[in-house]
Amino acid sequence: MLSADIQLPLTYKTIFNQSQAIGFGMPSDVETGCLLRTLAAGKPGGSFLDIGTGTGLSLSWMADGADPKATITSIDNNHKYQQIARQVFADDDRISLICADGAAWFNAYQGAQFDLIFADAWPGKFECLDKALSLVKAGGFYLVDDLLPQPNWPQNHQPNVDALMHTLQARTDFVLTPFNWSTGLCLLTRVG
Ligand SMILES: C[S@@+](CC[C@H](N)C(=O)[O-])C[C@H]1O[C@@H](n2cnc3c(N)ncnc32)[C@H](O)[C@@H]1O
Repeated sequence: MLSADIQLPLTYKTIFNQSQAIGFGMPSDVETGCLLRTLAAGKPGGSFLDIGTGTGLSLSWMADGADPKATITSIDNNHKYQQIARQVFADDDRISLICADGAAWFNAYQGAQFDLIFADAWPGKFECLDKALSLVKAGGFYLVDDLLPQPNWPQNHQPNVDALMHTLQARTDFVLTPFNWSTGLCLLTRVG
């Protein structure tokens, strides 16, 4: 399998082990992470948004790809999960961790657009989608995961995913690529 050769970020194992220790059951996978790292590396000095920090796995990949001038904002409403990321990235000045409800954060946010948004929580994906997409810079990326059936999907979730894909595909200001890979991804780039 090709992905067996993917080199993990230095912070990954610590976060992964601590995630297992607290029973965190929603980790993003290595393939998604590897793509995130590549996208982050393609935007030197970029500004990145990670919605759904969890314990910091996706953040570890973004931080690994990001250059020293890049910044990463990562949001989660669960303090216990996010605390692991807080400890691991305590000395990384590029990273701002915010413990807040994602929808409240989107509704209040008036700041600059981002070069890359990873939408891995309900807000920014099934809620506040228009706001999230409005925050992608021209030429910037929006990546969403968990679009293929997952063991941790809520009941009757397929119609939500179908509606999301329908909405994304109807956007004329983005071009997109769906991936039947990893947990099911869709990558969009703003063109309008
Ligand atoms: C799929 S997990 C994120 C996994 C993480 N990105 C990773 O790489 O392992 C989704 C996260 O969204 C958080 N979450 C759920 N509802 C939220 C909300 N309304 N606002 C902010 N975060 C939320 C959960 O606490 C959970 O940590």
